[in-house]
Amino acid sequence: MARKPKTVELPSIGTLDRSAGQLGRQLAQALRHAVNRGDLKPGELLPSTRALATSLQVARGTVIEAFDQLIAEGFLTSQPRAGTRVAQALAPAAQAGERVSSVEPAPLTERARLFTQVARQFSVVPAAPFAVSVPVGPAAPDDIWRRLGNRLRARGPGAPAGYGDPQGARVLREAIADYVRKSRSVRCEADEVIITSGTQQGLYLCCQVLLDADDSAWVENPAYRGITAILESTGRPERMIRVPVDAEGMNVEAGIELDSHARAAFVTSSHQYPLGMPMSMARRSALLAWARANQAWIVEDDYDSELRYAGHPFPSLQGLDPNRVIYLGTFSKILFPSLRLGYAVVPKNLVEAFYGARVLMDRHPPNADQHVLTAFIAEGHLDRHIRRIRGVYADRRARIIETIDRVLPRDVAWLQPSDQGMHMVLWLGGRIDDKRVASLAAESGVAVRAVSPMYAGGNGPMGLILGLGGFSDEEIEIATGHLARCINTVARDTSRDVKTRPTKKTARRSA
Ligand SMILES: Cc1ncc(COP(=O)(O)O)c(C=O)c1O
Repeated sequence: MARKPKTVELPSIGTLDRSAGQLGRQLAQALRHAVNRGDLKPGELLPSTRALATSLQVARGTVIEAFDQLIAEGFLTSQPRAGTRVAQALAPAAQAGERVSSVEPAPLTERARLFTQVARQFSVVPAAPFAVSVPVGPAAPDDIWRRLGNRLRARGPGAPAGYGDPQGARVLREAIADYVRKSRSVRCEADEVIITSGTQQGLYLCCQVLLDADDSAWVENPAYRGITAILESTGRPERMIRVPVDAEGMNVEAGIELDSHARAAFVTSSHQYPLGMPMSMARRSALLAWARANQAWIVEDDYDSELRYAGHPFPSLQGLDPNRVIYLGTFSKILFPSLRLGYAVVPKNLVEAFYGARVLMDRHPPNADQHVLTAFIAEGHLDRHIRRIRGVYADRRARIIETIDRVLPRDVAWLQPSDQGMHMVLWLGGRIDDKRVASLAAESGVAVRAVSPMYAGGNGPMGLILGLGGFSDEEIEIATGHLARCINTVARDTSRDVKTRPTKKTARRSA
């Protein structure tokens, strides 16, 4: 016997007025009211888009549109495998069904508004396939890390103590200087190394130290949201010059045409984020020549280049001119992101300025993990670990490529060729909306990030970032199946929308 579709009760939504059109907006408004009245409680699970569409007798795309809107506004949150819920942040007013206080809250400053937007874009991604930087299974350095931690945290140099050096523990700076000289051709001494809580903080420090209020900065287009969001939220959105990227990396000539007097250029020269190509030697030389001629700084975000699978990692840009380049490295990819340790290698004349900015920001990095990491590097575990994870991630990567190629037809989705890093870009054909695929995928327990918002104006080509976390073959297989279904659903909705969109003629007739 055929199963009857499950219907759900959400009485507070009321009925939708079909004659008024815009059912997605009506539904979003009804849900907003239900949350504000307290009929829907913070944390409460909403029905799946499919079930709600069936009970309201609307297209599933209508429900997805309403959910997407409310997620963007912060009314709802969506987590893989956990479904869509009313946001917890709405708790105080809505929970008790209280009347909202008649005293108006103080208006948000422009800065607070911008940071609020950033908060919504940087929600924590669960460790589900294809989240980026998930070090599980054979890629996690658990045992050695735990042993070193036990040894150094109790009585060793990592034991609780007074304030430490804002530049970071000297022993760790020495170990890092040795490591980057050998592995990344970075030219530096320990005195030029500043320990950070990861590249994100390194980027923030660079913006604080290198740019005055009126200074403009070049940023790749597309780029990592972590840098564009800093420049937008610190009051420099129009001073951010988005420079196009092509197969050779940042197009320096285009940058010069757009704004030759920029004070800094932010580049991911070893492995362009998100597209994946290295910057060509010709472009590196052109970028350095521009920086020298204009007294500009180059910030090299070298977030994952240790993980190259088809040869040795590309040498750093910093090695070509240590006086012009601020080099940012991190242990997030080669060890694990929750460690929150990275480093900036800065020209000598900037060391004190970075030291000062670091003191004001958070005084210094936590002491204990700095010493555990020092021992990890000094005892040779880091080199061995990197050699091992290269193999693990190369294997994961091959598995994902094989599975995607088998499950998704190339005219629907295809992978961008690349030979390094912890993520790949899956391009989507036929105007398939990557944001909708990402939010639908989250409902099925699949974590992918949309590429189009990483372009200036948020409207670049449609694609998805797939991380090479250490997920099992079975998890990859299942997740790829779910992802394919989500892509097909959005593709179907897109082609239906295109077909049913009124032509100029029918629009005029019905007007
Ligand atoms: C291009 C790029 N830069 C910087 C970062 C931030 O890394 P961290 O964890 O060291 O702050 C990331 C993280 O994914 C990244 O992809």
